[in-house]
Amino acid sequence: MTVLEAIQKSAEFLAKKNVESPRLQTELLLAHLLKMPRMKLYLNFERALSPTETDAFRELVKRRGQREPLQYIVGSTSFCGFEILVNRHALVPRSETELLAEEGWKFFGKNKTTVLDFGTGSGCIAIALAVKCPNGKIVATDISPDALALAKENAGRNNVAERIEFLQGNGFAALSADSKFDLIVSNPPYIPSAEIETLQPEVRDFDPRAALDGGADGLEFYRLIAAQAGPFIKTGGKIMVEFGDGQAEAIRKIFEDEKWIVEAVKEDYSQRARILIASLNG
Ligand SMILES: C[S@@+](CC[C@H](N)C(=O)[O-])C[C@H]1O[C@@H](n2cnc3c(N)ncnc32)[C@H](O)[C@@H]1O
Repeated sequence: MTVLEAIQKSAEFLAKKNVESPRLQTELLLAHLLKMPRMKLYLNFERALSPTETDAFRELVKRRGQREPLQYIVGSTSFCGFEILVNRHALVPRSETELLAEEGWKFFGKNKTTVLDFGTGSGCIAIALAVKCPNGKIVATDISPDALALAKENAGRNNVAERIEFLQGNGFAALSADSKFDLIVSNPPYIPSAEIETLQPEVRDFDPRAALDGGADGLEFYRLIAAQAGPFIKTGGKIMVEFGDGQAEAIRKIFEDEKWIVEAVKEDYSQRARILIASLNG
């Protein structure tokens, strides 16, 4: 079988399995297997796959057909241009979250800032901030020891392990009571519990439930953060949280009810409100 035949056949198979962008997904899997940039496949359409390559490719395509996310199959993803390993213990970093990291490093600048990344998962936000802000000190927390192990590995691979302190624990209990930060960032779980079953299989069956489940109305973590983050913020400090499409007004109210001053609500690339920035004293 040639490269082109393998792509065509597998794209048809993935289309039947209702995988989005089946041709692109097929090409990405084959490029991963053959260790070449996807565009280079186009110069190799007539190349014959060896029997070993054919078997290995079939296996990858089968997994994708079972709706396993591409990122888990290839083992990594890019976040703000940094390579982040992914596995079943952490949410696959999403492109919307890159905006949160960007807001974070815009606030940071070159200052000696201290940041808390609450619910770090793969460590993507903490790592992007640590790389972009060489004078910053970052604390990254998560309830999941397995997610933290992955985050630590990612920090090491991106050469920022010594500037991120990883702490395991439930919510703010992971921190010592006297910890203070210039910035708290978080992309907490925000899917209403009952909606998880309705999500696409890639998310429902593969992302860890603890990374998705935001309680009955999806807002549990915002209530917790709005109520408990205050003592951990330095004077003049800020909080930045990502939230789901359609949650903006509810989240604004949750923060305002806890006396936060909402400074901005930022939109993603599809013009959907996704990030709230607030402070305690303007
Ligand atoms: C939506 S994921 C975000 C992961 C990562 N920050 C990102 O943006 O890709 C939320 C993370 O919060 C963690 N988490 C869930 N409940 C928690 C709790 N009670 N305390 C601390 N972390 C929690 C989950 O384990 C998960 O890694």
